[in-house]
Amino acid sequence: MSNAEVTLETLVSLAKRRGFVFQASEIYGGLAGFWDYGPYGVELVNNIKQLWWRAMVYENSEVFGIDGAIIQNPKLWEASGHVAGFTDPLVDCKNCGARHRADHLAGVDSTDLKELKELLKDAACPRCGKKTLTEPRFYNMMMKTWVGPVEDDSSVAYLRPETAGSIFTNYENVRETTRSKIPFGIAQIGKAFRNEISPRDFIFRVRELEQMEMQYFIAPDVQHEQYERWRSFAWEFLLQRVGLSKENIQWHEHGDTERAFYAAAAHDIYFKFPQGFKELWGTHNRTDYDLGNHMQMSGKDLTYFDDQTRTRFTPNVIESSVGVGRLMMAVLTDAYHEEEVDGEKRVVLKISPVIAPVKIAVLPLSKKPELSELSRKVYNDLVRSTGHNIEYDETQSIGKRYRRQDEIGTPYCVTIDFDSLTDGMVTIRERDSMQQRRVKIDELAANVSI
Ligand code: GAP
Repeated sequence: MSNAEVTLETLVSLAKRRGFVFQASEIYGGLAGFWDYGPYGVELVNNIKQLWWRAMVYENSEVFGIDGAIIQNPKLWEASGHVAGFTDPLVDCKNCGARHRADHLAGVDSTDLKELKELLKDAACPRCGKKTLTEPRFYNMMMKTWVGPVEDDSSVAYLRPETAGSIFTNYENVRETTRSKIPFGIAQIGKAFRNEISPRDFIFRVRELEQMEMQYFIAPDVQHEQYERWRSFAWEFLLQRVGLSKENIQWHEHGDTERAFYAAAAHDIYFKFPQGFKELWGTHNRTDYDLGNHMQMSGKDLTYFDDQTRTRFTPNVIESSVGVGRLMMAVLTDAYHEEEVDGEKRVVLKISPVIAPVKIAVLPLSKKPELSELSRKVYNDLVRSTGHNIEYDETQSIGKRYRRQDEIGTPYCVTIDFDSLTDGMVTIRERDSMQQRRVKIDELAANVSI
């Protein structure tokens, strides 16, 4: 079976059964829009983040990382436009009280209230079936909190709705401390919070998310070429580094009513999730919107003087932004395969080895002490020499252990048998081909490509 047939239920069930993703506070019935990552989920997510950081920060000498606070001065979000404009259109049901995203209900990618009102004039509430929906209106998605002991208007603050905010406010700090000239970029990986009206589709739309974002500060006359450069970066990263299949991604250009309030142009890469082609990664041309607004709100001069062209301008920004969880869901969807082997179903996650949660599983054929001793040594040496996450498993039959490793996407299993005690050789089994070959223990690390 190809990955095209994966259902949401299959994915959720595999993620739970194998320890990738659990419902947050599951024993209390969970909380909509919040998820916990289990032992393999955290490995996969960390590997994805490392891969992005390497490609984005280390491989672009003019891109620097930061890690900003989740709570910032609320003026930041006034200047960014989030207090006034970070909204989704919603309708309330006057009968049962349910709230729905108006654009989802209308089945369109639009935030035009007039258009939505027209489309929904005869719509019924999906929960109670009554035609008692209010007209669409905007609802702010920022999560509020209070800083300090007094809970009044003066202490209101927000959990950041995107990581970009502290990148803009640190623009000058980073430029100065790195002695950079424009163009240069600032990258950040971190949590963001959105009070989504209808969190849904597993980890696709959540209320606590993690983003990998990069803002690239440029002169206004290179907007087009830099926009194209960062669009290509996203595309190549997904295909060549993450290893997604080409037929599962496509471009989607935002129309006028779909673009975020700050963007002059926006192209998303859509991925074929189990629920259809949906947004995975956005590249936006934010023009001088952000630094311009922060200058106005803070009174600080953030303009840049270019000594070559002898001109002063407000830096423009090209933004690259992708959700970590959403990318993880794309990886799981893309990697999921079912095959028939010897009359039995084999579920295998064909995850690119570089992001696979476990790189190698060491599997002694028996629990006999002499085999355990050698196997433990092989395992310890491998962990130390490769620095990878390696698993040791001596429970159950070898067939069941292979199946388990296949389901979590482990690219290599190393089996140790009684011959290994005398000939110093072990068997490597490759996940995708299931081919086995015997290699010397000393040459194990050189025989796997991760
Ligand atoms: N700074 C720009 C920004 O935040 P966005 O299109 O709202 O733009 C960027 O979000 C990316 O973050 C999306 O392409 C998606 O991958 C991820 N994302 C956004 N909202 C999300 C949510 N509620 N749940 C999971 N991921 C989300």
